[in-house]
Amino acid sequence: MNRYLKECFDKFRPQVDAYLKQLVFADSAGRRFADPLDKAMHYSVDAAGKRLRPLLTIMAYRLSAGDWQRVLPVAAAYELVHTYSLIHDDLPAMDDDDLRRGEPTSHKMFGEAMAILAGDALLTEAFRLLAEEVEAPPEVQVKLVATLSRVAGCDGMVGGQAIDILSQGPAVDRDKESLNELLKTLHRRKTGAMITGALLAGVDLAEGDPDLRLRIEKFGQFIGLAFQVADDILDEVGDQDILGKDIGSDRELDKLTFVSLFGLDEARRQLYNLHRDALLQIEPLGEKGAELKALADYIVERNC
Ligand code: IPE
Ligand code: IPE
Ligand code: MG
Ligand code: MG
Ligand code: MG
Repeated sequence: MNRYLKECFDKFRPQVDAYLKQLVFADSAGRRFADPLDKAMHYSVDAAGKRLRPLLTIMAYRLSAGDWQRVLPVAAAYELVHTYSLIHDDLPAMDDDDLRRGEPTSHKMFGEAMAILAGDALLTEAFRLLAEEVEAPPEVQVKLVATLSRVAGCDGMVGGQAIDILSQGPAVDRDKESLNELLKTLHRRKTGAMITGALLAGVDLAEGDPDLRLRIEKFGQFIGLAFQVADDILDEVGDQDILGKDIGSDRELDKLTFVSLFGLDEARRQLYNLHRDALLQIEPLGEKGAELKALADYIVERNC
């Protein structure tokens, strides 16, 4: 990680972590949810995630506005939905993994039922944060809700996860070109959509202009896909201790990934192309785009 990005991480991440930690998962009278539900929720949220999506929201916000602490509830909403997606992704019915963010997975700690419910509750809490904790004109708030529901739902993460599961196993009767199309759709939805949404949420809260929004959306689509290509590569060649999650799961489950379809070298080549295309989108922003550029560089170079 270069020094500049480390400075950005050090500037923003402690406040994101602190905001997430102080969230009280409670009913409308302020009584905490039944133990162990709130424990399971905080267990996964407070674990060592990279906080990439909140950082993207903050950085995108800062392109058009200054007081970035205002964006924390929105940034947190994306992290809650992302964390729920990880809890469910690890379940025995899905990827059946034991390690996440350097700790045993939620279902290993709390059992499957509580892990499912913790995920459900984190998803719901995210929308509560947008409705109750964000200070913005109502039309901006509605836009934030609309974007998160779109990128998290059938057209986004959940839809992508469904394709991921359905395309597990040997590919019969499909040529490489149609598998390539399917793979891109799968990755754009399961990972790219939430990453793009996190960026757009920052632009929208800052009420950035439409040209900037379009540019950032395209940037998000490129780095979102790049992020999952890097994840596929790390599943094959990464270090489990550094990653903090099981490696080799994709091969074990015969997943459709950039590595399984193209091999490591070609997957890396495509990753660099996506990185280049992402940078072209933000080039016109000049110095203003420096934080996003550093994050895009990190996405291709990362080892965790
Ligand atoms: C992992 O996401 C799941 C994917 C979408 C590839 P991250 O690599 O951002 O996981 P955390 O948040 O740092 O744990
Ligand atoms: C899952 O992709 C992306 C999500 C929507 C959670 P993976 O299954 O590849 O994520 P990891 O490798 O387990 O983090
Ligand atoms: Mg998965
Ligand atoms: Mg997985
Ligand atoms: Mg993976």
